[in-house]
Amino acid sequence: MPSDSPEQTASLPRFGFSTRIGFVLAAAGSAVGLGNIWSFPAQVAENGGAAFVLVYLVLSLLLAYPALVAELMIGRYGQSNPVTALESVPQNPAWRTVTKLTGIVAVLMICLIFSFYSIVGGWLAGFTLAPLFETTGMPSAASWLQTFSPTRNLLLAIIFIALTLGIVNGGVQKGIERWSARLMPLLVLLLVGLIFTVMTQEGAIEGVHHYLIPDFSRINETLIMNALGQSFFSMSLGVGAMMVYGSYLKRNANLPNVALQVCLLDTGIAFLAGLLIIPALFVAMNLGVSIYLPDGHLANNDTLVFEVLPALFNNLGVMGIPIALAFFSLMSIAALTSSISMLEVPVACLTERAGLSRKRASLIVCIGVLAIVAIVIAKFDPLFGAVVSLTTGYAQPIDGLLFCLFAGWLMGRNRKLQEIRKGWPEAEKSLFWKVWPWYIKIICPIMITSIFILQHQS
Ligand code: PFF
Repeated sequence: MPSDSPEQTASLPRFGFSTRIGFVLAAAGSAVGLGNIWSFPAQVAENGGAAFVLVYLVLSLLLAYPALVAELMIGRYGQSNPVTALESVPQNPAWRTVTKLTGIVAVLMICLIFSFYSIVGGWLAGFTLAPLFETTGMPSAASWLQTFSPTRNLLLAIIFIALTLGIVNGGVQKGIERWSARLMPLLVLLLVGLIFTVMTQEGAIEGVHHYLIPDFSRINETLIMNALGQSFFSMSLGVGAMMVYGSYLKRNANLPNVALQVCLLDTGIAFLAGLLIIPALFVAMNLGVSIYLPDGHLANNDTLVFEVLPALFNNLGVMGIPIALAFFSLMSIAALTSSISMLEVPVACLTERAGLSRKRASLIVCIGVLAIVAIVIAKFDPLFGAVVSLTTGYAQPIDGLLFCLFAGWLMGRNRKLQEIRKGWPEAEKSLFWKVWPWYIKIICPIMITSIFILQHQS
């Protein structure tokens, strides 16, 4: 297959991932990000340890996985960006306006997610660079990088956006696929190395017990709802990222099978991240860092990584610097493989619908996102939380619900089967085919509606 051209427009043929493993790594790269490495362990710590892990794993397989197949399927069926792909789902023209509008909202929302992600991604880049400045005799630069300030936030966000832009400019094969294939294995290697290092510290085994031995009495409504929300955010559902990656997937790829691989990689890496961070929290507690408040809640829910873990690394003596470097590189890699999928969604829309070149489209989107970033940084306190809550708390569950409804009700059984059969000729006889159409038609929408209502009632 020829490589992706920077000048690709709607009139030219569509080029995608060259290998199945390239696709799986890129899609898993999108899924694995701050959600897995930061939010998941924090949720585990907040929601009673292993009980949350168990519910999360079950829900990822039973609920997020079928929704992921639906998004990938719509993308590959439409062979285009999420707006055009969603527009192609219904046969009735009146519904086309509804699905297209849903696609446009999803694209706007992913731009907002990209903006808050760039701010946090920038902090990660700062915490990665800080140990380097520390060791090269520039402690004041190191401390500037680690101290919250508007200038630092903006500068680092620009660096993060520029890195994302550079990768996405390379196109699907030379940019996204190549870099995801390089960065993802490195991420797993770093995680495993860090787990071994933390395990040698005092208190780590207690953390492992907390992480692996469930206390079933901790399972309640809130825990289940949090686990559901976490699994949808973690698998990048509801904003078109998986749809655009699905559109680059080869016709003969087995959709349920590749989706399962992505789902297993995503939950597997979340599990590994928990195995690193939960024992690390216990090591930190052992060192006297206060993690939990007297009422049992986390003291620093949002900033745990940026406050508690550096404190822990400092206590590791000379080993602390390379460990901090490895940990924050790992976090930055995870954030970058997610942000490239975020940028790809509006870029695919602009290249295919407005006929812009890839380079021009990505530059325009990045300038727009940078403008949002600057506004959010200028009024950080109300705006940052508002953007996170609007996108992850409202837009993702609602759009995720709509995508399942569109795939379930507006795309006939035969069209769905034809799409699945392309890479799996005997799909019709499988258990998957007996269960999945009902799942996305009824179970997924009911469950997502419940998450949404319950999350926003409390
Ligand atoms: N799944 C990513 C994470 O776990 O951090 C976040 C994400 C990526 C959300 C891409 C939405 C998206 F489109």
